[in-house]
Amino acid sequence: MLRTLTTFSLLLVGFRAAGAQAANSFAGSNLYYAAGLYDDDRTTLLEGLQSAGMKVLRVWLDGQSETQKGTNISPFPDLEPTQICDGVASCYNDTVLERLDDFMVAANSYGIKLLIDMHSYNALAAGDVYGAAYGIEDFYTDSDAQSAFDQRLIHVVNHVHTTLGQPWKELNDYIFGFEAENEAMIGDGQTFIEDHQQWQCDRATTIKGQLGGNSGILVMTGGESWMAESVQPDFLSCDALDVISIHAYGTGDYDTSSIESYVSQAQSAGKMLIMEEWGACYFNTSNNDCPTGAPLASDTRNANIKQWAGTITAAGLPWLYWEVIPNADPHWGSDYEIGLVDDPSWSTLQDVAQAALGATAAFDFSPYLL
Ligand SMILES: *[C@@H]1O[C@H](CO)[C@@H](O)[C@H](O)[C@H]1NC(C)=O
Ligand SMILES: *[C@@H]1O[C@H](CO)[C@@H](O)[C@H](O)[C@H]1NC(C)=O
Repeated sequence: MLRTLTTFSLLLVGFRAAGAQAANSFAGSNLYYAAGLYDDDRTTLLEGLQSAGMKVLRVWLDGQSETQKGTNISPFPDLEPTQICDGVASCYNDTVLERLDDFMVAANSYGIKLLIDMHSYNALAAGDVYGAAYGIEDFYTDSDAQSAFDQRLIHVVNHVHTTLGQPWKELNDYIFGFEAENEAMIGDGQTFIEDHQQWQCDRATTIKGQLGGNSGILVMTGGESWMAESVQPDFLSCDALDVISIHAYGTGDYDTSSIESYVSQAQSAGKMLIMEEWGACYFNTSNNDCPTGAPLASDTRNANIKQWAGTITAAGLPWLYWEVIPNADPHWGSDYEIGLVDDPSWSTLQDVAQAALGATAAFDFSPYLL
C-alpha cells in the first residue's frame, strides 16, 4: 500500500512537472498612444505584430494631441480632461475608451489582446488633473486621492463596449490584463515605493473586486524602473495581484541567472512575472540612459536585441518590447523603438519574438492568450 501510494505521488509530481513544462512563452509590444492611431497605421501595426507571433499589446489612456515618435495622431482627450470625476459618470470623457473599443476588436482578429494601463505616472508628472491637485507624492498618500482614483479604475473596467455591449471587465477575449498605473511612484524613488507597497495592493484589490475571481483577465502592477524596484515583497503577497510587471533597461537585469532568482520568488508566492518593458537603445549610450548619441551599427544593435531577448526568454519570462511603431523611426530621444517601415532591426525582433513563442515559460499564461 505504501509503495502504491508513493508511486502514485511520484506520478502526480511527474504529471505536474510535465504540465508546467508544457507552458510556452510569448512576446508582445507596447504602444502607449495606440488609441490615437489612424486606421492604416493600426492595420500596419497589427499585421506587423502578428507576423512576429506577438500576442499582447500594452496601451495607456493618456490623451494625445501631437505626433508621437513620427506616428500621426488622431487627437483624443484624457479620460478626466478638466477635473477629477470621482465616479460621476457624465464627467468622464470616454473618447479614449471608445477608441480602444474599436482597437481591441481589430486586435482580436489578429490574435492579439490588449493590456490596459488605466493611468500613467507620466500623466501625473505632466500635471494632469491628479498631478495638479495632489502632486506626484500626495497622489499616493492622500486618502481622497486614492478613493477618487479608485473611482476612475471602477469607471474604466465597467465601461460598456460600444459594439459588443458588455463591460470591459467581462471581455477576456479582448483584454489580457488591467494595471492601475504605468510605473506608479517612480518619481518618488525606490525607498518611497518600498514604503508604499500597499498602494499597489489597494488598487489591485479595487480592480479585482470589480472583476471577480474568474474573469480570465489578469490584474498586474504596471512596473517600476528596474528589476529590484519592480518586484516588491508586498506585491508578491498581495491576494489581488496576479502578475508582477517588470520594467528594466539596465542590461544586468537581463541576465538569465539574475532573472531566475526573481522567478523562483514569484513561483514560491504563486505569482507570475512578465518582462513588460525592455528595449535595446538605438544609440551608443548605456542601454538604460539613452537620450541621444551616435547610432550603433545595425549589426551591433541587432546582436544586442538577440542576446537580451534570448537571456530573458531563457529565464522563462514572456516579454513585451518597448516599442514597435507603425512607421519609420524618426530616432527622437530615448530611442528604443523599432519601426515597421524600413527598420534594419525589425526582422531580428520578429525572429526573437517567434523564438519566445516556441520556448518554455516559467509561468503558464496560455489561458490568457488567443
Ligand atoms: C470628449 O472630448 C471630445 C474631443 O475633445 C469632445 O468632442 C466631446 O464633446 C467630449 N465629450 C464630452 C462628453 O465631454
Ligand atoms: C559614441 O560614439 C561617438 C562617435 O563615434 C563617440 O565619440 C562617443 O564616445 C561614443 N559614446 C560612447 C558612450 O561610447
